[in-house]
Amino acid sequence: MYKLIRSVLFLIDAEKAHHIGMKGMSLLHKILPIKWFKSLFNVSPHQVPINIESLNMPNFIGLAAGLDKNAKYFRALHALGFGHIEVGTITPRPQPGNPKPRLFRIIGDKAIINRMGFNNDGVHAIKKRLQTKPKDIVVGANIGKNKDTPNENAINDYVICFTELYEVADYFVVNVSSPNTPNLRALQDKEPLTNILNALQQKNFLKKPLFLKIAPDLTTEQLDEIIEVVLQTKITGIIATNTTITREGLNISKAEIENIGAGGLSGSPLFKKSIEVIKYLRKKLPADILIIGVGGIDNADKAQQMINAGVCAIQLYTGFIYQGPKLISEIINKVKV
Ligand code: FNR
Repeated sequence: MYKLIRSVLFLIDAEKAHHIGMKGMSLLHKILPIKWFKSLFNVSPHQVPINIESLNMPNFIGLAAGLDKNAKYFRALHALGFGHIEVGTITPRPQPGNPKPRLFRIIGDKAIINRMGFNNDGVHAIKKRLQTKPKDIVVGANIGKNKDTPNENAINDYVICFTELYEVADYFVVNVSSPNTPNLRALQDKEPLTNILNALQQKNFLKKPLFLKIAPDLTTEQLDEIIEVVLQTKITGIIATNTTITREGLNISKAEIENIGAGGLSGSPLFKKSIEVIKYLRKKLPADILIIGVGGIDNADKAQQMINAGVCAIQLYTGFIYQGPKLISEIINKVKV
């Protein structure tokens, strides 16, 4: 079923296809009996429950941030088999993101380049949607800063999002790693990062899981600094990784790559970088600091490699776009955790 839907959606502009696909899926979820919805998309009845601190999830496969930016589709995505759904990135004020086109499929490489730029409805609208979230659907809030907030004031944006969403989200992710907000990645430096994470931990009176999402393009020295910050601020762990600004591992021509322009690369070519970062972190971090693995996972073998590298859960985005919900079932059924 998904193959058929995909072949139609891939004929149109990537961002339009995204909206049509998500709305269509959500509509089917609303009108069909849940059994029919699940069998239409081959959702696996087999589950592998896990706990991440206080959170109980039906399985270890989550939806990475960026697909359900505005918390509109988490019910349907949960029904498709995701064990957790990360919404956002959310900023305090709504913002339109970068000019279109800003989302590009690279089908031959099973990859995507995007420069969306945190287009989202803002924290208040998203909070309202999450207020009606059923307890058994685990939703994380991935938070960021508005484009026009200077880095010196970024801490306020993170605190606003964190406190506004505190009651309605199950876990939080500090995103300082998107390549599409100018200078955002400078917040991965030791001082600003420590300040942001400390400020959030001070407000974290229920000790909700708090993760940091990092880029795959950091040097080992930068990773070492991040490890220090994570240990100092006592956060739950790291989500590794976001998209890369490099263009390694692509088969398309240089001219085609240049034609697409700036943005973060995700999908199959990212896997090598992401797992390298994860292996490095796992070697250096104590076992109680969790790592969630994301980047280029598009089959059970890659999911198994992530698990073997010591992650507690994985997340999908681009692989899910190319293969649909059957990828979740395939991973659940084949991977040994
Ligand atoms: C993303 N990603 C992302 N990450 C994030 O923390 N906040 C965001 O708003 C977005 N937005 C976004 C949009 C689009 C179109 C894509 C393709 C990706 C990054 C995503 O969560 C993930 O980290 C990477 O895509 C790597 O995983 P995959 O796609 O290779 O499985």
